[in-house]
Amino acid sequence: MSRTTVATKIQHEETPASGGDAAAGGSYEIVTREDFSDVTFMVEFSHPQMARAARPGQFVIVLLHESSERIPLTIADFDCDRGTVTLVIQAVGKTTKEMQEDCRVGTKLFGVVGPMGVPSHIGNVNKVVCVGGGLGVAPIFPQARAFKESGAYVIGVVGFRSEDLVFWRDKFESVCDEFIICTNDGSVGIKGLVTDGINQAIENHDDIDEVVAIGPPVMMKFSAEATRPHKIKTMVSLNPIMVDGTGMCGGCRVTVDGKQKFACVDGPDFDGHKVDFDDLMNRLGRFTDEEKLAVKKWSEHCHQSQPQPQLLDEG
Ligand code: FAD
Ligand code: FES
Ligand code: MG
Repeated sequence: MSRTTVATKIQHEETPASGGDAAAGGSYEIVTREDFSDVTFMVEFSHPQMARAARPGQFVIVLLHESSERIPLTIADFDCDRGTVTLVIQAVGKTTKEMQEDCRVGTKLFGVVGPMGVPSHIGNVNKVVCVGGGLGVAPIFPQARAFKESGAYVIGVVGFRSEDLVFWRDKFESVCDEFIICTNDGSVGIKGLVTDGINQAIENHDDIDEVVAIGPPVMMKFSAEATRPHKIKTMVSLNPIMVDGTGMCGGCRVTVDGKQKFACVDGPDFDGHKVDFDDLMNRLGRFTDEEKLAVKKWSEHCHQSQPQPQLLDEG
């Protein structure tokens, strides 16, 4: 991605001076909120320009409040007619928990930068398997839809812990020729991991051109290992820690085919058979202590900000 493109994208970030309201938040109003589980929730926000520009595989960097950290989130859906962009978020730490608490219909995101990253290559393939696990289930949807629209035979494979956590089944079924749900407890679909779903698809079809897998690094690693003996091209979407998202800070450095790449501008999609997943997983864990402390401080602050009459009396 060229620097010019990046600069153009940054101009999309709303600031109080360009229409936002620092006290009330920015201009990106949340129009839909749906909770899929205790930790997974969906927000659809209004941004007609971004909805028109978004392509499968791209992501945004979101600032919840003026002083929030910037976090990358994959564009899980976009709707040009409604002028909206959809994110599906797992509340895993301070910022995503804060979003889970604060992002309600009618509230606004302070800043959204994007669409970022190189769009996924939706090539001329006849048969493709789209695999989503964990926080990758929603982001695989726009790719499955794009492959379907390009005329491919699409096999969807998604993984959940149990049936009650399954979401977007109808959406996936509307774009997939075959749809395989895998659950850890076997409460719906096949009992097992997404790799079992991939193996089932490979057993039933000897003409798969490509597998696309999105999810936690360990899931993508084993998805790539499942396809390697069959020499099926396998693309994965890497999720290293990102800060600026413009290729400047080096935070998102990943090793692919022995070479250093920046996932934010060179990816996030890479050839899964060439990715050094162990390096990715090591780098993802390098701020664990600070992240735990941030959640602890935020939880204490929330608790303290509740009305405490005995303290007020002292004033
Ligand atoms: P923290 O406690 O700060 O971090 C929890 C874990 O999240 C960390 O251990 C680390 O592994 C990871 N993380 C922390 N900060 C970052 C960061 N700045 N960038 C990337 N990872 C980080 N999550 C979703 O729920 N839905 C998505 O659609 C989604 N898409 C992503 C797309 C890309 C391209 C990338 C790089 C990440 C994506 N993530 C997505 C992951 C999401 O960005 C992190 O879960 C989030 O930043 C965690 O922030 P936190 O403060 O809540 O948690
Ligand atoms: Fe800074 Fe990619 S996030 S270089
Ligand atoms: Mg954080």
